[in-house]
Amino acid sequence: MQTVINSLTQQYIDREDRYNAHNYHPLPVVLQKGEGVYVWDVDGKRYFDFLSGYSALNQGHCHPKIVEAMIEQASMLTLTSRAFHNNLMGEFAEYITRLFCYDKVLPMNAGAEAVETALKLARRWGYVKKGIPDAQAKVIVCSENFHGRTINIISFSTDPDSHDGFGPYTPGYVVVPFNDIPALGEALRDPNVCGFLLEPIQGEAGVVVPDEGYLSTAFEMCKAANVLFIADEIQTGLARTGRMLACDHEQVKPDMLILGKALSGGVFPVSAVLCNDDIMLNIKPGEHGSNLWGNPMACKVSMAALQVLIDENLAEKADELGNYLRDEIRALNSPFISLVRGKGLLNAIVINHPDANAAWRYCLELKENGLLAKPTHGDKIRFAPPLVITKDQIDTCVQIIKRSLKVLESGI
Ligand SMILES: Cc1ncc(COP(=O)(O)O)c(C=O)c1O
Repeated sequence: MQTVINSLTQQYIDREDRYNAHNYHPLPVVLQKGEGVYVWDVDGKRYFDFLSGYSALNQGHCHPKIVEAMIEQASMLTLTSRAFHNNLMGEFAEYITRLFCYDKVLPMNAGAEAVETALKLARRWGYVKKGIPDAQAKVIVCSENFHGRTINIISFSTDPDSHDGFGPYTPGYVVVPFNDIPALGEALRDPNVCGFLLEPIQGEAGVVVPDEGYLSTAFEMCKAANVLFIADEIQTGLARTGRMLACDHEQVKPDMLILGKALSGGVFPVSAVLCNDDIMLNIKPGEHGSNLWGNPMACKVSMAALQVLIDENLAEKADELGNYLRDEIRALNSPFISLVRGKGLLNAIVINHPDANAAWRYCLELKENGLLAKPTHGDKIRFAPPLVITKDQIDTCVQIIKRSLKVLESGI
């Protein structure tokens, strides 16, 4: 199947290619408007967004309450730097720490910055509280992880695209297989380990859900070894998996919680690390920071974004509609879908087809039929619509998913 790209769309793509770095491989669609579960391209064609900005848009595109908060604050005060206090930092910090039951928050911008911060906090805690000899601290991470793109973070990535060719790498990380309790137990025997960093569900790896009990067992093992359990909930958090946090599925309260993406409903970069004083207060003034962190816009937008999740019961909705979506896709009984997996509205299908390019071809066909999704790691396609989607809209989307499978009948 050949997707037809009209000349207007091609002009936008050519311009981007000419002047922008080639560090992504987007689907050939140029978007200019979004509302709720929908986006529109430059020709006015409407699509269901089944990626949600990689789960940054849990509240839907341009949620009016979040946009209103942003506009209101934009004309009042946008940035003070952290050289001065601002009138919203305390309100935001109180709001978010109460919501997630931690003593303190450290706000940031991008997700990777929050991960970096958590790693610094873990190392510092290891030296100050656990008594690890200077410069010997280690953090356990999981294979197939995705925590961002900084040199430090990609140092412990097992994905060649993320990792290779960027050395020399940062030492101090021990990689264990995800969902492997014995391997974790072995790694935890090292007294210089200060933290275990994981995604409760591995999103970028293709929505890999660990066995039930993995999170709670891993948490207990960390407790026994005096090691911090650090949950990167940047993609899994904030109602996406059918709970406010994916760790809530197993009643685990991480020692450090990392949030991002939907923390601003996708309108503004906001991320955060939450933990208690015994971890957070080991970092003193001047030892960590950034000009933009905790700016008044971020504080205001983030409170609005979190409140929308609560007011609209988006975790409950994701739970119910996620079960429904998976059941409906499984009921298609397609030979081209070998697996449907996920929790809440964080889902993926695995394409079964001899053509290595089949998942990409299928996504092009979905686009033609009005639904946007993107392959990850070759044969996996994430299905993660905004949580404001309705059951009727899911029914329409399942019909598009079904109809588009026809494209895979060729090329076998
Ligand atoms: C689990 C996880 N951690 C960290 C990140 C990095 O976030 P950012 O791209 O905002 O730096 C991502 C982004 O996809 C993610 O999914």
